[in-house]
Formats: sequence, C-alpha cells, structure tokens
Amino acid sequence: MEKPSTLFTGIFGAFIISTGAMVLLPNSQIGNLQPTVGDWDGTQPSPTDVYPVDRRLIGRDVYVANGCFYCHTQQVRDLQYGPDMPRGWGNRRTVARDYLYENVPLLGSTRMGPDLANYGAAGWRNEQSEDTKKPAARDAAWVFKHLYNPRTFVSDSNCPPQTGMFTRHVIGEKASPNAAFVEGREEWIPGDDARNLAAYLLSLDRSHPLPEAPTVIKVKEEKK
Ligand code: HEC
Repeated sequence: MEKPSTLFTGIFGAFIISTGAMVLLPNSQIGNLQPTVGDWDGTQPSPTDVYPVDRRLIGRDVYVANGCFYCHTQQVRDLQYGPDMPRGWGNRRTVARDYLYENVPLLGSTRMGPDLANYGAAGWRNEQSEDTKKPAARDAAWVFKHLYNPRTFVSDSNCPPQTGMFTRHVIGEKASPNAAFVEGREEWIPGDDARNLAAYLLSLDRSHPLPEAPTVIKVKEEKK
C-alpha cells in the first residue's frame, strides 16, 4: 500500500455514501410523512378511524407475540407485481403512509395464509381458501370461531388453533353469543387475548384512498 490515507479515504467514503443512500435519502423522502386528514380531497377519515388505538393496539401485541406475521403479510402489492387486489385483499396498493403510527410495521414476508392488510374492510375475501362456509362479512363472532379452530371452516387450514385464548364455561341459561365452540353443556368463550386480537384484526382497514395510492379497483362483493 503506497498511501495508507487512500485506504482510509476509501473506507470513510463507503461509509458516507451508504449512510447517505440508506439513511439520509430515505429519511428525506418519507421521514416527514403526515397523515392526510380532510385536506386533499375532503373525504379523509380522522386518524383515529384509520390508525389503531386502545384494545386494537393491545391486540397488535398479541398478534406479534403469537407470530401471526410469520404466515400473514400486511401489504398489498401494486397490480403489476401480483394479483393481490383481484384476490380481494385490498382496493389499492399499500404505501409507507399506511404504516405511519406503527413502530415496527408488520409487513411480513411469507404468505402461508392470506394478506390481512384490509381484513376489517368491507368486501375482504380469502381467495386462497374459498369456502362456502366463510361469511360475507367478518365479525368478532366469526374471528373467535376461526381462532379457536380454523379447521372448522377450512379442513386443511395451517392456521394454528389458539385454543389457549379461550376459557371453558358451563353454560348457564343459554350459550354466550361469543362462544367459539359448544359441546354438551360446556362452551369455550374468548379471553382477553382473543378479544383484543379480534379487535385488532377487524380494525385492519387500509381501503381509504391516498394521494400517492388512489383506489385502483372496486373490491369485489362477497358471494352471498
Ligand atoms: C403456519 C402459518 C400460519 C400462522 C402462524 C398463522 N396463520 Fe392464519 N392462516 C393461515 C392459513 C394457511 C390461512 C388460510 C386458511 C384459513 O382460512 O384458515 C389462514 C387464515 C387466517 C385468517 C383468515 C380467516 C378468514 O376470515 O377467512 C385470519 C384472520 C388468520 N389466519 C389470523 C391469524 C392469526 C391472528 C394468527 C396468529 C395468532 C395466525 N393467523 C397465524 C396460516 C397461518
């Protein structure tokens, strides 16, 4: 090595360039994103309608703790990159602004199960396992039954049953409307984790249009 300073300049330069490209440039592009509320087309919902708070936030921790993100993504790709939208997983692609208040966005990388970015939105469907037993619209009672035992609905479902989130009760006068499973005089009702998780899942709705991601397709209506 003729000049050690060349080596150090090289190392330093590589460090500066990569910091610029991977930290400063992205930060200048999306570091100051603000939620759009009512100011660009007048139809925006308020941030608390769009971004989860309270029980839904706790449910998000349950989602993380149970590794749901290993099999479920929360990102809808643009039409040119895949048929996410025709599958019924969303009416537009998702963009950085959709994840504004999420400390660690749960984008996920593997799709063993359907994408859940819009699970709580009207018309969400699960093309992967189209099944006549699936309802037109998901609600908490449905989520509980699916969580308790997904194979009730899809005989070869890989979605792990969360039986431990339910407690067994002896039925009093009549079965609870939230009972996930009833056998004889006993019922399994959702505990806090299941209720929080259901609230979180049903809050997932990124169907409102954004300036950089306008609505692309109308979500197909579920078969009745
Ligand atoms: C081993 C992979 C795997 C893991 C881990 C997993 N799932 Fe699933 N999930 C699937 C598959 C496959 C399906 C599609 C079959 C079905 O509907 O059961 C599915 C479907 C679903 C659905 C759609 C049900 C509907 O309404 O049609 C929901 C909601 C869901 N999973 C939630 C969860 C939650 C919450 C967790 C974490 C507690 C979880 N999944 C963990 C594989 C997984």
